[in-house]
Amino acid sequence: MIQKKWWHGKVAYQIYPKSFQDTTGNGIGDLRGIIRRLDYLKDLGIDIIWISPCYQSPLADQGYDISDYYKIDPRFGTMEDMEELIAQAKERGISILMDLVVNHCSDEHIWFQKALQDPYGPYGKYFYFEKGVNGQPPNNWRGYFGGSAWEPVPGTDLYYLHLFHKKQPDLNWENPALREEIYQMMSWWMDKGLAGFRIDAIINIKKALPFTDYSYPPDRDDGLASATTMLADAVGIGTFLGEMRDRVFHKYDAFTVGEVFNVKDEELADFIGDNGYFSTMFDFRAAVWGGDPRGWYCSRHITPEDYKSCCFAAQKQMEQIGYLSNIIENHDEPRGVSRYIPAADLSDHAKKLLAIVSFMLRGLPWIYQGQELGMENLPFTSIEEIDDISTLDEYAVARRNGLTAEEALAAVSFYSRDNARTPFQWDASANAGFTEATPWLRVNPNYTRINAAAQIHDPCSVFSCYKALIVLRKDPDYADTIVYGSLEPFREEEENLMAFYRHGKTQTLLILANFRKEPRTVTLPGQCRKVLLNNYDTFSIRNDNTVTLEDYQAVILDISK
Ligand code: GLC
Repeated sequence: MIQKKWWHGKVAYQIYPKSFQDTTGNGIGDLRGIIRRLDYLKDLGIDIIWISPCYQSPLADQGYDISDYYKIDPRFGTMEDMEELIAQAKERGISILMDLVVNHCSDEHIWFQKALQDPYGPYGKYFYFEKGVNGQPPNNWRGYFGGSAWEPVPGTDLYYLHLFHKKQPDLNWENPALREEIYQMMSWWMDKGLAGFRIDAIINIKKALPFTDYSYPPDRDDGLASATTMLADAVGIGTFLGEMRDRVFHKYDAFTVGEVFNVKDEELADFIGDNGYFSTMFDFRAAVWGGDPRGWYCSRHITPEDYKSCCFAAQKQMEQIGYLSNIIENHDEPRGVSRYIPAADLSDHAKKLLAIVSFMLRGLPWIYQGQELGMENLPFTSIEEIDDISTLDEYAVARRNGLTAEEALAAVSFYSRDNARTPFQWDASANAGFTEATPWLRVNPNYTRINAAAQIHDPCSVFSCYKALIVLRKDPDYADTIVYGSLEPFREEEENLMAFYRHGKTQTLLILANFRKEPRTVTLPGQCRKVLLNNYDTFSIRNDNTVTLEDYQAVILDISK
């Protein structure tokens, strides 16, 4: 049994500030926009908010390229706005998490500028500068956004490492002086009253050194090997993360959620077990399912059965280890309703089904802005509409591999990070009420139908379903079972039925979700005491204890003895 923590029973929400609410008329969301919408989030039932980066940044990777950790980018507001946001959230009982992006900074950060001037000086040691080999980069790693992970330093025989974009040079965590700077900066932020951090791309801070070539034959025809390949050989990340925990998180009793891909199974407990490096980490199993080293154009689309297997596998793996954070989507993923529900089946019932199964898994439920409205992928009509560097790279990869412009657009549209980054749909007015100016990214044309104003007071809306799930999670009669109860699959082998028990100390809940368009009949494994939630108006139990689940019907039943 894991140690109980204050945040286990909470509900968390991710804000992507650039697309949430513009109040200044520049087409970009801002901190005052978040303040304006705090009551909306309070009404939904949110307790914890993670704000994607709003630090000073050239926005080459939408703020994940920070040029000053101690400043708010003027496009998002001021430090006073940030302080007011933290205070106003606190008044509403909401905790704020900032995004901690410390695998890399921006090439416009003063550290990097100084390092370029004197790569062999003290700031040069904040980064990885290496000599090229015969006029070529030091090794064959490919960055996550394509191309070599090494960029030449003009006028020298040196290259610097950037696992992400070339405007995101990697910080050298082997250097204690760098680590010191980071811990100081983190403490400075914690002193402002944050509850903690979401921790970006953290597995990458440990590199397999010395730098060598990987994977022959190379995994793509560019002759390079994905940087993920070296992660398997990078040992000793725990020294850095344990230090970070002891130096900062412990001192503040911080709540932290890691963005951790490629963790080694045997290290999971070190990451989120009792006294782990982090409080929790996101479950990305479904998000990475079907990925292909050759690129998005070769990735396989997930089916409801695969989704079910991913969720159950993650639950089983983590039950004894720690408390997962469950997501349907985030700013790096397409909209979950467009990904996990076959396009031909998409309906409000299906969207609510996804919400119900995800919220009823053991773990901390997260909502990414707009998910609570059932916001969908954007129907891109041209590659010109895409801003995201990762999608542009994947498009180029697809084209290089022979796909036509149309095919390549179709392939990347399904996965594009911009799907989730379109402006929040507040109402049916111009630009969905997000801005009075031209929005930085196109608003999904379905905003006249899918928007907050239309849903808040509609008891049948997707929004109301999320709200009901949050109320249920906090209901003293059921909270302990929903938050801590163990999960046991029910009729796992039955195709497109996603069903499971949650066993509490004295209670048993049964979640039944018919993940397909045709109805199905199920025999209940016990007497139903109460229907706690139902995404349809109807649900009746026959004398022989069978029930019929309609097209994408999902119910939560109390079947305690
Ligand atoms: C994380 C962020 C993503 C960003 C990357 C580099 O994966 O979520 O948006 O591009 O790290 O910082």
